[in-house]
Amino acid sequence: MQMTMPNSSNSPPVVLSAKGKRTQEAPISALIAAAVGNPDLISLAAGLVDPLTLPVEECLAITQRILSDRARAQHVLQYDTTLGLKPLRHEVLAHLQRLEGRPAEGLGLTADDLIITTGSQQALYLIADVLLDPGDIVIAGNPSYFVFTGTLQSLGAQVISVPMDADGMDVDAIERMLHELHARRQLDRVKFIYCVSFFDNPTGLSLSLERRKRLIEIVRRFSRTHRILILEDAAYRELRYDGEALPSIKCFDPANEFVALTQTFSKPFAPGIKLGYTVMPKGLLNPVLHQKGNHDFGSANICQHIALETLRDGSYARHLDVLKAEYRRKRDAMLAALQRYMPPSAEIRWTHPHGGLYVWLTLPASINTAREGFMFQQCLDRGVLYVPGEYCFTPDAAGNVPRNHMRLSFGQVAFNQIEPGIQRLAEVVRHHLAGHASAPCAWGGCA
Ligand SMILES: Cc1ncc(COP(=O)(O)O)c(C=O)c1O
Repeated sequence: MQMTMPNSSNSPPVVLSAKGKRTQEAPISALIAAAVGNPDLISLAAGLVDPLTLPVEECLAITQRILSDRARAQHVLQYDTTLGLKPLRHEVLAHLQRLEGRPAEGLGLTADDLIITTGSQQALYLIADVLLDPGDIVIAGNPSYFVFTGTLQSLGAQVISVPMDADGMDVDAIERMLHELHARRQLDRVKFIYCVSFFDNPTGLSLSLERRKRLIEIVRRFSRTHRILILEDAAYRELRYDGEALPSIKCFDPANEFVALTQTFSKPFAPGIKLGYTVMPKGLLNPVLHQKGNHDFGSANICQHIALETLRDGSYARHLDVLKAEYRRKRDAMLAALQRYMPPSAEIRWTHPHGGLYVWLTLPASINTAREGFMFQQCLDRGVLYVPGEYCFTPDAAGNVPRNHMRLSFGQVAFNQIEPGIQRLAEVVRHHLAGHASAPCAWGGCA
């Protein structure tokens, strides 16, 4: 007897896991697609780096060097370990010592506390994956890095958010929240606090020195039956254009117990090599390593060799200086254009970041910046794109998020497009400006 195969149009559905069903497309993907589809659009949305300053010559020279030596090339083109290339972990540790201005011993660290990952995003994912069961709690800033809050959502975690101000996450609010969770007997569900400690995505703000110390003290105090960790995401740390260099939160964790510190080669060097590294606190490295074994059992070895060489031959440091000079110029151009074109109003304000790639713009509450709102569409019609602030907020109990903010990036946009981009944006704002009473400025350094 002949079996009839169902044709594709009436075949039964693919049944996804609970996690598969919870996982949604990152909202920014559609925005980036819109930008790619229209070459005339000025995109102030993408968190991509500046294409003109990518280290083409440096990478060409390094790959030629490492591949023209046959013995080394055979090594470079082979798998390495899940933990990551040993000499790279040593170079990265030396690099971290320079950034912290302290020897590794003072930080309680060796190269074996470090894991190399496929971008810092993989480290964020793996850490969340090994720590969180559905219903577990993560405390994050409001607003926060929306790609990672999407990850948390897909893992079924409950994100409890605390406000942000000019000094970064409000750590007093974190302390109050932990007291409250303790009183509700839910403290055991709190697994970690997520903090983008330097030049945050999306606000551009950094956690103040005082708050870094307080945060460690708070997690230590509330770690009664289990350790509450801090996941310190320092993706933008090295893109500092002015202001004082701050130590990481990790720096105040000398026994390496409470902080997982993630950093990346994407922002200070090149996203195309997609490499990150994480200092793991005691007890977390092996679970993450085993999970990474399930994912890829090691990041691309050739990329790790490129990263190793750029740190060794000094091209990383030289390139970073070039990048910072260019980004500083672009940041200044964006701030100057905002000052010049935005209508003067106490309700219109923006952050003045000392580093990173983002400016956070707040508009009067009457102006809806949401993807479905008039502002977004009119900006698109005028050929300018931004990230609606709504994506960056955790909804309140009623499911609402503020809809009068936007994230502007000076990373990828060409220098000479920044002023016209802001001018177009300001035209739409002017058009819609409603004369509401001014609200106090929470973001600090506001215009
Ligand atoms: C705050 C933050 N963390 C982590 C990442 C991940 O970057 P990568 O995986 O390229 O290291 C990004 C990328 O934009 C980011 O903005």
